[in-house]
Amino acid sequence: MNLEVSTRCEGLRGVYRVPGDKSISHRAVILGALSVGQTDVRDFLPATDCLATVRCVQSLGAQVEQLSDTHLLVRGRGVQGLVEPEDVLDCGGSGTTVRLLAGVLSGYPFCSVLTGNAQLRRRPMDRVARPLRAMGAAVAGRDNGRLLPLCIQGGHLRGIDYTLPVASAQVKSAVLLAGLFADSQTTIREPGPARDHTERMLVARGAVLKIDGKGTVCLEPGHELKAVDTLVPGDLSSAAFFIVAACLVPGSEVMLQNIGVNPTRSGILDALQSMGADLKLENLREIGGEPIADIVVRSSDLRGIEVSGPMIPRLIDELPILALAATQADGITTVKDAAELRVKETDRIATTSEELRRLGARVEPQPDGFVIEGPTPLYGSPVHSHGDHRLAMTLAIAGLLAQGRTLVHDTECIVDSFPGFEAALQQAAI
Ligand code: S3P
Repeated sequence: MNLEVSTRCEGLRGVYRVPGDKSISHRAVILGALSVGQTDVRDFLPATDCLATVRCVQSLGAQVEQLSDTHLLVRGRGVQGLVEPEDVLDCGGSGTTVRLLAGVLSGYPFCSVLTGNAQLRRRPMDRVARPLRAMGAAVAGRDNGRLLPLCIQGGHLRGIDYTLPVASAQVKSAVLLAGLFADSQTTIREPGPARDHTERMLVARGAVLKIDGKGTVCLEPGHELKAVDTLVPGDLSSAAFFIVAACLVPGSEVMLQNIGVNPTRSGILDALQSMGADLKLENLREIGGEPIADIVVRSSDLRGIEVSGPMIPRLIDELPILALAATQADGITTVKDAAELRVKETDRIATTSEELRRLGARVEPQPDGFVIEGPTPLYGSPVHSHGDHRLAMTLAIAGLLAQGRTLVHDTECIVDSFPGFEAALQQAAI
């Protein structure tokens, strides 16, 4: 499937919602399966990644009824209640599914095998295997346990005190979920502020956590989780494509409603504001322990900035679209300390640089980020998603700015996180 974006549009206008948050949708299903009682999940993201999580928890004995695309009922089995799967668990292309489930499965005294598609089978799994082995699980995998498929024989876990080598919410969550099964307290120390949805959702379900606000999280095991109905906020990572488009296309004014603005996720808003974006948060409120807001964006002139250090985990998934914004900003934008981008769905430092350069952008890849010079006129050209949803959507937005026709090849991957993106773009861009 290809997506053609052929005209310079005259501005994005209107009031929109984006689909539910991907990270929270995965966690609502996994925690629902581990809870006692029935969890009603509304505004669930029906993306291929989250549907992989649903299929996996069903294979582990949880009942998940899909009442509509975005409305699920998860009948939980309690922390100890999942059952040995009959077959391998296929996580598709979803890193969150495989890493969080590796944590859960480490708690069970049975054998399970986690695998995924070719893209996921290239991504590093030693980051979860190492702490889970330290807790007592037997975790084997290809390439000395580094790659999928992973075979896990769990049970009899002990709590550990673990310092994360990288600020990864997936690893933090895997260790916390395994910690539910351990015989003593589990402590995690993070080097930077990775998204904290797991902690918030565990606490809401009755888990006992101590969070010091300075990067240390302790979980006390031995408490049941109780089902809590979940209304999933709109995904800021999806909204980011429209936010950047509205910043860049002259004459734009959009409102994105009900967007999650958890401070561990909202780095993109801070970065754009320091670039000079005309961006306001209205109607700030809380749903189920997560802050949400309506975001109003108007087009404005941007200037280059440096993005590095603790800001990186707060906008890691938005760096491809931020790179596009930087091509239109006045001056140099430097992104540093973001080597994690190399192990996402694709090596996003390489693929984002390569594809934006095809359109005429001045982007220099660096070992841990980019240096981008702007403003640069973009020219329509055939470009490739490399099977990476966030790159595909970044290139589609680039097509709104480029003169001539931009043809984005291989856009079927967009459904990994944003079903309906193409229709939403057509509606917004006039
Ligand atoms: C996610 C964590 C991040 C992010 C991914 C979703 C999560 O990955 O990039 O899209 O839901 O926990 P890392 O934990 O590897 O940084």
